[in-house]
Amino acid sequence: MTRTRSEDTQGIRVSPDHMRVPGQAHLVSQAEARNSAELLVKVKEPVAAEYGFLRPDLVLFTYLHLAADRPLTEALLDAGTLAVAYETVQDESGLPLLTPMSEIAGRLAAHAAATHVAGNSGGPGLLLGSTPGVAPCRVLVIGGGVVGAQAALLALGMQAEVTILDMSARRIRQLDTVFAGRARVLMSDVATLASELSQADVVIGAVLVPGRAASKVVTREQLRLLRPDALLLDVAIDQGAPSKPPVLPRPPTGSRAA
Ligand SMILES: NC(=O)c1ccc[n+]([C@@H]2O[C@H](COP(=O)([O-])OP(=O)(O)OC[C@H]3O[C@@H](n4cnc5c(N)ncnc54)[C@H](O)[C@@H]3O)[C@@H](O)[C@H]2O)c1
Repeated sequence: MTRTRSEDTQGIRVSPDHMRVPGQAHLVSQAEARNSAELLVKVKEPVAAEYGFLRPDLVLFTYLHLAADRPLTEALLDAGTLAVAYETVQDESGLPLLTPMSEIAGRLAAHAAATHVAGNSGGPGLLLGSTPGVAPCRVLVIGGGVVGAQAALLALGMQAEVTILDMSARRIRQLDTVFAGRARVLMSDVATLASELSQADVVIGAVLVPGRAASKVVTREQLRLLRPDALLLDVAIDQGAPSKPPVLPRPPTGSRAA
């Protein structure tokens, strides 16, 4: 087993001593590892500065999100590298390597929404769950998979009013049972989406069609339905986001688009 030197390890607070496994692991430079490794296990996709280490006799195992990254797709094809994307690995449970990231990202989305609507970065100065006697924020979650369910769970925990839209009748039935009336769970059609967008304080995008760029669910025209101080958070941005970049009557602020 080969691991790279301290510049790689500082970020995860692991010292070279932690990595010393007698007879099994040794430390080398990044360049040495990249030029000699048969299997390269990374956390995130290679950035442009790293395309040079791609070669035909390398197997790369990492998150890739190729549907949203043409330059990386072409670099891998040109180099002839065999690449396996974590987010497309499937077993009987679904997407076992994407799911833990999605659980974190979904919960984080609710945290980020709460922070931004509270006004720290120019938001409208609302509490997600409001106070007694005042209506709570309306949170619209588009895509009720792992990210969407976790975002909804946290938003509900903060006493927000939550609606989840999905396309899968099977998933809608599951969510309906899980949330048991605490969240509204609706089929995502054009009319429902338009109606929900116009009432939302927070929209969290969380759709996925595995292996494909995320569907563009919210059109530019529909973005105009959002309230002036609404917050749009797109967790599916890594897969090509479900909403198109906003072109709004007045420029979006930190509180209106993410
Ligand atoms: N930014 C990050 O750090 C991060 C981390 C994890 C996941 N993600 C992204 O979040 C997204 C969701 O991941 P997930 O694990 O929850 O996926 P998932 O497969 O569990 O859920 C996706 C859901 O979207 C629904 N869906 C698909 N098309 C739809 C549409 N047009 N309208 C409404 N619903 C639709 C599906 O039915 C499914 O329930 C993915 O794009 C993933 O890449 C981002």
